[in-house]
Amino acid sequence: MTGIEEFIAGVPKCELHLHIEGTLEPELKFELAARNGLTLPYADAAAMRAAYEFHDLPSFLRVYYEGMAVLLTEQDFYDLAWAYLSKAQAQHVRYAELFFDPQAHTSRGVSFDTVIRGLRRAVLDARRLLDVRAQLIMCFLRDFSAEYAMATLLESLPYKEWIVGVGLDSDEHGNPPVKFAAVFERARAEGYLLTMHCDVDQENSTEHIRQCLEVIDVDRIDHGVNSLDDPALHTEIARRGLGLTVCPISNGYVRGDLGHEAIRRMLDLGMRVTVNSDDPAYFNGYVTENLLALSEAITISPQDVLQLERNAFEVAWLPNSLKDAYLAELAAYEQAR
Ligand code: ADE
Ligand code: ZN
Repeated sequence: MTGIEEFIAGVPKCELHLHIEGTLEPELKFELAARNGLTLPYADAAAMRAAYEFHDLPSFLRVYYEGMAVLLTEQDFYDLAWAYLSKAQAQHVRYAELFFDPQAHTSRGVSFDTVIRGLRRAVLDARRLLDVRAQLIMCFLRDFSAEYAMATLLESLPYKEWIVGVGLDSDEHGNPPVKFAAVFERARAEGYLLTMHCDVDQENSTEHIRQCLEVIDVDRIDHGVNSLDDPALHTEIARRGLGLTVCPISNGYVRGDLGHEAIRRMLDLGMRVTVNSDDPAYFNGYVTENLLALSEAITISPQDVLQLERNAFEVAWLPNSLKDAYLAELAAYEQAR
């Protein structure tokens, strides 16, 4: 391993953009399918992986939603999250915020209660047994109606203590942030923190980012790379100190390059850019691989890696005392090198 590879492998990490359903590896799909009496249309995990082929957001989302059919019981959701959190521990992820898509399950007859109880139990076990901290962010699927999102928000309220915030994901085309203004206003009133996907190079990307800032008043933006296209947007994001959760390998699938130049520019502009993994089972890379891919595409120094992780811990949805403890771990890592 080169110096920077070793540095990346060992650095304490904070993952802020990770769809838990996007961590469902083919091997686990086969295991869950067998347990649930389902047959998958592939000979084995390798054949399934070989059939993954996406070139933009809709083509990825089709495969992503199809894959979830094997998730049926509370134990399935536990196993999914436990597998990810174990992997996270091995990569020195100290804290992770996990997106989950309840409507991708309730829309096929799996109850909200089943989903969240399985995920919650894995989060508790990871804290106790792996020394990895995690919190859940509930995402609404933006290609469903605002009414369905509102119903899902109301359904989540009895479990409010288990959910730190809400997000918005799925197909952005024709589904702008303002479509969900009332839902996010209610979510804020209920005490949830707010984030939204502004995927790379979508139709009306900059207008969607503007709506996130001016209409929704988000606490964070997922991706948000196109904020660099408009100085008014990136200046405002920097002024507010908002975090941007960028996912290089995922960007590579959706737009053809890793967005590495954008990450360099954001670092240079002092924006709180972070590096994350999005859907690692589909894009073939967890957070370490994303940092490595970045370091292969551009020259990044250990100081840049530290800055990316510092940014992530600073914008994490944690109390200051915990942020400080993680930032101290980062400082100790730097000192020890
Ligand atoms: N859901 C899961 N991954 C996503 C992504 N990269 N963009 C939008 N919605 C998603
Ligand atoms: Zn995402």
